[in-house]
Amino acid sequence: MSRLRVAVIYGGRSGEHEVSLNSAESIIAAMDAERYEVERILITKDGFWLPRAISPEPGANKGIDVVFPALHGTFGEDGTVQGLLELAGLPYVGAGVLASSVSMDKDVMKRLCRERGLPIVDFLVLTRGQFKPDDVCKRLRYPMFIKPANLGSSVGVSKAHNCEQLKAALDLAAQYDRKIIVERGVEGREFECSVMGNDQPVAAIPCEVLPSREFYDYEDKYILNQARTVLPAELEPEQTAEVRRLAVECYKAVGCEGMARVDFLMETKTGQFYVNEINTVPGFTSISMFPKMWEAAGIPYPKLIDRLIELALERHRNRQETRFSR
Ligand SMILES: Nc1ncnc2c1ncn2[C@@H]1O[C@H](COP(=O)(O)OP(=O)(O)O)[C@@H](O)[C@H]1O
Ligand SMILES: [Mg+2]
Repeated sequence: MSRLRVAVIYGGRSGEHEVSLNSAESIIAAMDAERYEVERILITKDGFWLPRAISPEPGANKGIDVVFPALHGTFGEDGTVQGLLELAGLPYVGAGVLASSVSMDKDVMKRLCRERGLPIVDFLVLTRGQFKPDDVCKRLRYPMFIKPANLGSSVGVSKAHNCEQLKAALDLAAQYDRKIIVERGVEGREFECSVMGNDQPVAAIPCEVLPSREFYDYEDKYILNQARTVLPAELEPEQTAEVRRLAVECYKAVGCEGMARVDFLMETKTGQFYVNEINTVPGFTSISMFPKMWEAAGIPYPKLIDRLIELALERHRNRQETRFSR
């Protein structure tokens, strides 16, 4: 049997370039050499594609069977690369164009969840330059979380306890996006749950994240390395079931395919779980939570790669059965 040629695209122009390098190395190292032939496509921080770019011409890439985009954040996780791969007619791992881009947008993602009746925290959407900070204070209670709508890794995210902090936080978030989200701060715990599948998505075993700082901010994620994770999360069986159910529901709400990691907040006072966000290209290093939650569910890392590639091919076959003109 001939080997499947898998192009791993990694690096990229986002702030998560370095994380992507690590994710890609882990993915490549875990790919069974008897089954897969790997082609590396590195996108530099300035956006150059090495060693060779994929041409958007349909059928031009006879050499590649499937693409594994291991890009996190902007220009990779947000539907842009997925769009290019659709144009090129190539199967690829992970969410499609629409699910990728709506999952990246914290406002649209929350609205889709709300429409499906899923619990999300109260939030406001502001447009850069179009609001008065004093009005915001009247509409939500402190503490508030302020975030650029389309980013990740906690970049531009702040917690505000008073009006002065709120103003500084809005200025910061406005540097990263025209659209800003302000939401009610939840006092409690954080959980994550991996999901995988196309038409019948399934959830893995959830974990808990214990930030070492006031919240899980950029320093905590990438510099301090002191945040702890607990896997399986210490929850009652019915709470675990609830997290897994909500994770799958959120996945369906955004129309996700392939894979995602859904993140939650749980309010201590009420025990209520809230869907916080969905990441369609979650961290994929061997110590990342996405693969670890699958390991806990009985799917070791190399099998996870096999499954994701199968899902990519399955989706591509389904798409080929669709007519695009009469
Ligand atoms: N409403 C909230 N209440 C409490 N903590 C929050 C809230 N929103 C965000 N956080 C904290 O900020 C972190 C980053 O926010 P998140 O929405 O996950 O953005 P990002 O996409 O940058 O990871 C979360 O992991 C959590 O620690
Ligand atoms: Mg997050």
